[in-house]
Amino acid sequence: MTDQTDVGAASFQPAHFAFDAESEAEISRVLGRYPAGKQASAVLPLLYFVQRQMGRQTGSAWVPRAAMDEIARRLAMAPIRVYEVATFYTMFQLRPVGRFHLQVCTTTPCWLRGSDEVVAACRRTAGVGGFGETSADGLFTMTEVECLGACVNAPILQVNDDFYEDLDGPRTDALLAALKRGEVPPPGSTIGRQTSAPEGGPQTLVALPLAAATPPAE
Ligand code: FES
Repeated sequence: MTDQTDVGAASFQPAHFAFDAESEAEISRVLGRYPAGKQASAVLPLLYFVQRQMGRQTGSAWVPRAAMDEIARRLAMAPIRVYEVATFYTMFQLRPVGRFHLQVCTTTPCWLRGSDEVVAACRRTAGVGGFGETSADGLFTMTEVECLGACVNAPILQVNDDFYEDLDGPRTDALLAALKRGEVPPPGSTIGRQTSAPEGGPQTLVALPLAAATPPAE
């Protein structure tokens, strides 16, 4: 997993951060959900807005320390309270990552279903040396993650906010090659599975005698 510790004073940290108009609109919408004095509860969405804004502006979706300080100011929190939240949740990246953040699940169900092939394809086609590393072209960062909660369609590769499911080596190669070309394949199952149904389609509840067939008596 990417080392998230001791990055606050690193040379890649920008000196300043300001929310852009798109983030400001999102902030106004979210803060409206909370009663006066409870705006600190919006710390999680504001951290998300920072990460998305950095992705829009720099091509690297991460959360600089200056942005956490700005969140603390906006929500009237001590900065350490924001740092505590940002360092607890692994979905927040506290150092720059590639344009495509490849989060490979290697927990047992994904491992049994071939996550080693997914990792090998990320090394081969994305050009990342290992977990926590970024490709030379800056496009890809690969991170090893624990269960992503989609084991039924294992193995899973999360690319930024999207899940790609039912992968193997060649399908992962194809996905990464498409991303390199600037294409974004539709997320979800890569074998055409219907949501999380068995391969080939649903096998139960396929012929429900619908209530409409026997309308209730007047
Ligand atoms: S083990 Fe990979 S999604 Fe659950």
